Amino acid sequence: MSIRKTDITPFGDQKPGTSGLRKRTSVFMQPHYAEAFIQAIFDTLPDVAGETLVIGGDGRYYNAEVIQKAIKLAAAKGFARVIVGQGGLLSTPAASHLIRHNKALGGLVLSASHNPGGPDGDFGIKYNVGNGGPAPEKFTEEVHKRTQVIDRYEMADVADVDLSRIGRQEAGGLVVEVVDPVADYAALMQTLFDFDAIRAMFASGFTMKFDAMHAVTGPYATAILEGMLGAPKGTVINGTPSPDFGGGHPDPNLVYAKDLYDLLMSPDGPDFGAASDGDGDRNLIIGKGRFVTPSDSLALLAANALLAPGYRAGIAGIARSMPTSAAADRVAEKLGIEMHETPTGWKFFGNLLDAGRVTICGEESAGTGSNHVREKDGLWAVLLWLNILAARRESVDAIVTSHWREFGRNYYTRHDYDEVDAGAANGLMQALREKLPQLAGSTLEGKTVAYADDFTYIDPVDGSVSARQGVRIGFSDGSRLVFRLSGTGTVGATLRVYLERYEPPHGQHDLDPQSALHSLIELADRIAGIRERTGRTEPSVIT
Ligand code: G6P
Ligand code: ZN
Repeated sequence: MSIRKTDITPFGDQKPGTSGLRKRTSVFMQPHYAEAFIQAIFDTLPDVAGETLVIGGDGRYYNAEVIQKAIKLAAAKGFARVIVGQGGLLSTPAASHLIRHNKALGGLVLSASHNPGGPDGDFGIKYNVGNGGPAPEKFTEEVHKRTQVIDRYEMADVADVDLSRIGRQEAGGLVVEVVDPVADYAALMQTLFDFDAIRAMFASGFTMKFDAMHAVTGPYATAILEGMLGAPKGTVINGTPSPDFGGGHPDPNLVYAKDLYDLLMSPDGPDFGAASDGDGDRNLIIGKGRFVTPSDSLALLAANALLAPGYRAGIAGIARSMPTSAAADRVAEKLGIEMHETPTGWKFFGNLLDAGRVTICGEESAGTGSNHVREKDGLWAVLLWLNILAARRESVDAIVTSHWREFGRNYYTRHDYDEVDAGAANGLMQALREKLPQLAGSTLEGKTVAYADDFTYIDPVDGSVSARQGVRIGFSDGSRLVFRLSGTGTVGATLRVYLERYEPPHGQHDLDPQSALHSLIELADRIAGIRERTGRTEPSVIT
């Protein structure tokens, strides 16, 4: 095999964030940019002789080109085998499964998740390790260091692989296996859920819409829901992946999946609606007349997991990211199982899952998943909901409201301020941090501050410490404000403000969250000076 070496000067901006390196597509399209980052990942790996690498992406613009580059870099690096999804497609959870299933050394997941795609959109590259999960911070920091000094990359001098043809090919001594992106993942889902019960529910007239948002879950949802579970054709909408997601924003929230929301709120809408994001790891769950917040969904899935065959033996524990509401904590308490609060980012669940300390994890950012893979998994959440609906034979609304009557309701909302000037956003956070010592124990508008800190996580498995993970101000009545800057934005800074208030089991559960949280919203502005410092009078997105 002949190897072509290219000399380069380092790019100064290849620092991975919450979820790998994410930039504008045009940044990734600069000559040598993607190559340099992938080479930096490879340079950080141990010996790869005899090892397998999984490669796939969400099909966004530039996906196929980067896959060809990655294969040539992998061949030069000396991997034995690459497994790549047909057409270059793999949902993020399916990639995680393939890494585990094939005992691969790791995988490259090409995606910018829920960010728009296309030449003017975003692109991203993330490395996952052998447990199938995103590389831990220690590894990504090493990669970052490497990107700052890297002066060459090496590629096998071979022709492009035919990504449309399933089967084995060869590229400079490297075995390239192009696989059906759906098959192994669908087989895994079949081991977890009662497909017969769900099939019977569809056969008896249960109706659903799944919005794939022109992204990667289209083929997965069509094969599983319409194929294996017998849902009528047309259950999956926007099911063909497109490089720019049909010109849309593949983020399954109430802003970008508004049509689905409106459909579910209409009297003649279907019984159940769901959506997933660009790379298939997020989920949106809406029952007829009832939107389920991601934080509530986590609590509900954990409370009802026993109804699915894969979790019949019980769950070991639950983990949630710090800004996620405490609804799941009440479930864990009742079940007498461990509850963990981690920083934002799925990678923080990896150790807890590997150690068998938790089974189900979730985040307010529309991610839920379990120990079946090491990523959050949109379709998994949808299938677990379907399994629960089939077993309980009740509506989503009935299940949610009876949960609140048992556990109480955590009113919850997140206000995002997108593309804020980075200096202003950092200044706001810094001023908040400086205020923390005075805040603890003080009284604000009649509410006593129980704690005020910048969240530090100590991983209970390996003892690693992650500091400065978000400012939390908790009150003695159980309500809470959290402020942090997003780690996934690509332009300027995104300020996220998370607001939560607890209403006990016999309290009022039918308020609109924005009005139930109104006084906290005002208080957040007063404490942080959001309007004044960002110049914004209202959030860009409310979820
Ligand atoms: C990605 C990560 C999640 C995270 C979310 C929001 O989806 O996988 O773990 O919760 O981004 O992160 P951010 O830093 O933008 O709040
Ligand atoms: Zn995603």
